[in-house]
Amino acid sequence: MLEGKNIVLGICGSIAAYKSALLVRLLVKSGANVQVVMTPDSTSFITPLTLSTLSKKPVLVDYFTPENGEWNNHVELGLWADLFIIAPASANTLAKMANGICDNLLLAIYLSAKCDVYVAPAMDLDMWKHSSTQANISKLQSYGNILIPPGNGELASGLHGEGRMAEPDEIITFLSAAIKKKLPLINQKILVTAGPTYEAIDPVRFIGNHSSGKMGFAIADELASLGAEVILVAGPSAQVNKQSSVKRIDVTSAAEMLEACVFHFKNSKACIMSAAVADYTPVNVAQQKIKKKDANFSIDLKKTVDILGLLGSQKKNGQILAGFALETNDEEKNAIEKLEKKNLDFIVLNSLNDEGAGFKNDTNKITIIDSQLQKTVYNLKSKEAVARDICNKIIELIKG
Ligand code: CTP
Repeated sequence: MLEGKNIVLGICGSIAAYKSALLVRLLVKSGANVQVVMTPDSTSFITPLTLSTLSKKPVLVDYFTPENGEWNNHVELGLWADLFIIAPASANTLAKMANGICDNLLLAIYLSAKCDVYVAPAMDLDMWKHSSTQANISKLQSYGNILIPPGNGELASGLHGEGRMAEPDEIITFLSAAIKKKLPLINQKILVTAGPTYEAIDPVRFIGNHSSGKMGFAIADELASLGAEVILVAGPSAQVNKQSSVKRIDVTSAAEMLEACVFHFKNSKACIMSAAVADYTPVNVAQQKIKKKDANFSIDLKKTVDILGLLGSQKKNGQILAGFALETNDEEKNAIEKLEKKNLDFIVLNSLNDEGAGFKNDTNKITIIDSQLQKTVYNLKSKEAVARDICNKIIELIKG
């Protein structure tokens, strides 16, 4: 959840600042870019050197860095941050935040930040219980700031009670859960298909196609990173998912893909059918290897079920169905015919005439045509970026 996130970590003057070193380490290990900002008093509890070494960035304390005459631009830092965490948050800083006081860099960034702000208070039992602290906390929450509640236990003063800063691993869990809850596709089950299908001729041969599965796997990963519960029905493919939450169901033939799709579509919010499903399959599969005899050889083929077409006929109100059309000629006309025939909400058209599009490449160039026949043409992009465009269309349709 924290991977790639820009995080400003504010540290106030509290003995709990010793825990900040571990918090920085855990944030960095989670893949976040961490900018530590300290109040002047906090530098008495933990050295900026410790935190700059762990965060791999100079720590900021003042509006100016006198050594190089640089101004630490609080507005830029406020805009840079995807998350602002103040841990430990002292009673003094909480009171200043609640009242718009801005007498240090940390507070100036707080007032400039547009992102979510999390506070993890740390103070003695009676300071925490004090009506003024509680009123400040309520005020800060009413402004949209998020409280990471302090824990109960032995305090640095020797007293027992509430007031100790949440442990660094608890803060990471809290942040991850809060970010997850806000993801646009959280709690949405989405079915994706990818790769080719193999139609057996005999025990050693099959009819297949050149699909690598790259596009479908990229879509599945992107949907999962947006919070969706992803079921990926994959034909034979060497691809692996980057997102471990994707539930992959391996199939070989069109018939197996049909069975898995029909089963999972029933309770899915959306389905993106990117697999290159065989249109024909042998009428009979030889039980033993076919020996070569005559100069010519033919195999009787029968049509497979059009999985997307069948799902389109079963689609319930509120379900979203998307398909792909890989074309070589009359691209738009063919794509619109498929969109209408298969009762789709949108179709992703790619043309083999576009350089860098289609099978095997790491790039694709698509046009999305929706059921209103609204057309969006995209540039040639990486398959990951194309997946993002497709997922944005899904989000747009889900949000209505
Ligand atoms: N598709 C499917 N089941 C099939 C064949 C295709 O679900 N048996 C899906 C593909 O996954 C894709 C869409 O239908 O999302 C378009 O597939 P395509 O093969 O391009 O279209 P067809 O309808 O099969 O038409 P044609 O092969 O004649 O172009």
